[in-house]
Amino acid sequence: MEKKKTVLILYSGGLDTSICIPMMREDYGFDHVVTVTVDVGLPEGELKQAEDKAKMLGTEHYSLDVREEFVTDYIFPTIKANGDYQGYPLSTAIARPLIMVKTCEITEKTGAQAFCHGCTGKGNDQFRFEMGMRLGRPDLPIIAPMREKSMSRSWEIDYAAEHGIPIGQSKEKIWSIDENLWGRSIEGGKLEDPNYAPPEEIYKWTKSIADANDTPQDVTIEFVNGEPVAIDGQKMKPLDLILAAHKIAGDNGVGRVDMMEDRIIGMKVRENYECPAAKILIPAHKALEELVLTKEEREFKAIVDQRWSRLVYDGLWFDPLKEDLDAFINNMQPRVTGTATLRLYKGSCTVVGRKSDFALYNEALASFDDKSFNQAEAAGVVKLHGLQARMYDSIVKK
Ligand code: ARG
Repeated sequence: MEKKKTVLILYSGGLDTSICIPMMREDYGFDHVVTVTVDVGLPEGELKQAEDKAKMLGTEHYSLDVREEFVTDYIFPTIKANGDYQGYPLSTAIARPLIMVKTCEITEKTGAQAFCHGCTGKGNDQFRFEMGMRLGRPDLPIIAPMREKSMSRSWEIDYAAEHGIPIGQSKEKIWSIDENLWGRSIEGGKLEDPNYAPPEEIYKWTKSIADANDTPQDVTIEFVNGEPVAIDGQKMKPLDLILAAHKIAGDNGVGRVDMMEDRIIGMKVRENYECPAAKILIPAHKALEELVLTKEEREFKAIVDQRWSRLVYDGLWFDPLKEDLDAFINNMQPRVTGTATLRLYKGSCTVVGRKSDFALYNEALASFDDKSFNQAEAAGVVKLHGLQARMYDSIVKK
């Protein structure tokens, strides 16, 4: 008997990846379709919806809950690197590598001979998914029907109807949303006009300024080795801590981002993000770094953080340079142990305190009243300060 030809589809349950199912059978000649949905913090009910739809469309389906691993192995390293690209606290970008590691495992398990994803040719995820697949399964051909065929939404809806795929809310679905434990990204529809103010309805985790708490809330975050371990003295498991941080920040209207973003291929897009936990945990982490790292380290780490974030945004999580930068970052993180206190109030987040046993700070030394430091000794250093600028002024300019 001839071996079955199997394709694996990275499946979200949405319109694009659903129409890939009959398409793989009819147009691409596969007689067996495997679907995989990886849960890195999907909205309530979405995993089940994807499972039901896959079952209905007759695929061999796998649902994988990798939320814990996502927090400890992807979100925590992102906090240590203060992961941010152009003002976007990296969220979709940090989930893709893990999704691909897990998807590659399923290709092995099911003997899939090809990999299919639903990305278009304009976005960043095609880079991230394909990099992950080529790394894990360089032998598998990659099929991207949305990119290949440039299908319009109305054509897709007709195609779905003809193939008995329930379109349900997808017809009136106005926003393209990607959600994981670390953040939500909302694109499309009217938001494509960069001058259109985002409507309240795109937000789910954050209150508007008007509805946010009426009194300021102070919150203390404890870090060990650069990883958050407790909020207001209460130790929490990594996943619970992220959820608690979302709630505290969100209730105070902290965590909304509206920005212009330069995609990998160079296209500018308007992006809206909702990322309350990131908007308090990263500032708290930075506040602690300010206290424990030297001037030289702080200056250099800002460069490393930016380079790290750019690599990760570009889908190069597994690049050797990213590993090198992680080694640099991880070497200093044991000192990033202590607490930072933030004051949250109607959308603002201000650092109001920081404390660490590793603080490179001496109150007596910095104090105006202190006598232990002989200030007269500073005169000589001050005299020579700017020596080259003075030479330039007298030799070149005169
Ligand atoms: N621009 C972000 C990124 O590339 C998020 C994209 C998420 N996709 C979406 N359909 N909202 O990481």
